[in-house]
Amino acid sequence: MKILAFETSCDDTAVAIVEDGVNVLASVRNTQPDHSQWGGVVPEIAARLHSENWRKTLEQCLDSASLTIEDIDAIAVTQGPGLQTSLLTGTTAASFLGLLFHKPIIPVQHIFGHITSTVLGRNVSDIQFPSITLTVSGGHTSMFLYKSFTEVENLGNTLDDAAGEAFDKVAKMLGLGYPGGPIVSKLAEKGDRAAYKFPRIFLGKTSLDFSFSGLKAAVYRVIEDEKINIGSDDFSDKFIENVCASFEEAVADIFLKKLQRVLEFHPDIKQIHFVGGVSANTYIREKIRGFFKPHGIELLVPTDFSYCTDNAAMIGSAAYFLAQKSPCIAEAQYIDAKARLPLH
Ligand code: KG4
Ligand code: ZN
Repeated sequence: MKILAFETSCDDTAVAIVEDGVNVLASVRNTQPDHSQWGGVVPEIAARLHSENWRKTLEQCLDSASLTIEDIDAIAVTQGPGLQTSLLTGTTAASFLGLLFHKPIIPVQHIFGHITSTVLGRNVSDIQFPSITLTVSGGHTSMFLYKSFTEVENLGNTLDDAAGEAFDKVAKMLGLGYPGGPIVSKLAEKGDRAAYKFPRIFLGKTSLDFSFSGLKAAVYRVIEDEKINIGSDDFSDKFIENVCASFEEAVADIFLKKLQRVLEFHPDIKQIHFVGGVSANTYIREKIRGFFKPHGIELLVPTDFSYCTDNAAMIGSAAYFLAQKSPCIAEAQYIDAKARLPLH
């Protein structure tokens, strides 16, 4: 079954074709010009660029797979959550193409797409249940009990900032670019991870929720103190690298602690899946992998870095499994965008 998928929940216009949930025949993403000059993604600008880009992205995707829309069995689209005006481009395009070419349309929840992203480029049998999925990006940080391809149970969420958002804010405070994650992570490689003892907020003894605002505030205080010390914001490379390294270490420790906790409650866990933009972080990946390997628990991350950050292939994969379970979900003729859309 070949599914054509659209993902336009934020500022990237992405289209992919995925066969049987795992085989990516094409995945194209047109990243929008840097929104950071405006201090964040501007919904009106993002929406206008999506409307300008979606046909071009669709054509690039079909060309890359050497297919036409007639070859497609169904159309999937991110229905939410996300920026309403951005989502609308994807849902309108999918609904329009579905009507025009008489194809079923499958709506997908964005986080559910991230959860399914580990199967892309693998065999279905490589995914074992039950597992834990840690999904971490600029907009969310959550942990799920992954029971089957279509069944998850939410175990914990961030109570304030998402971890990716914290990476982005630390980069901003240090005068680095956007998105902050890859820049902070690169600079952290050269820094001393013990230079600053930033707080690890674990919340209550059994809590599986996350909190990153205290960590962000502690980084802010160190940066403000340095400004006073040197009399400017022209920080030395060493200072920047040390802050990045110490911050990244704190984030890694928080994930590790929460994963250890969840395994106490669910000792039958087979794998840990780490997905979303922050899962592109190789240091955090290796720290989690190294810790759980001796316990016989394998860490799975998306097979390609492009499947960590927002992409349409994960939406095509999730749609396949949803349609296998309940074919009727593809009966809709029009999919409405939903800025707030819970997983269930
Ligand atoms: O999943 P994603 O593309 O979009 C959202 O749904 O938010 O994630 C983007 C987030 C950004 O906050 C970015 O800074 C972070 O993922 N990110 C990283 C890395 N690459 C991207 N964070 C840490 N380390 C990285 N290597
Ligand atoms: Zn995302």
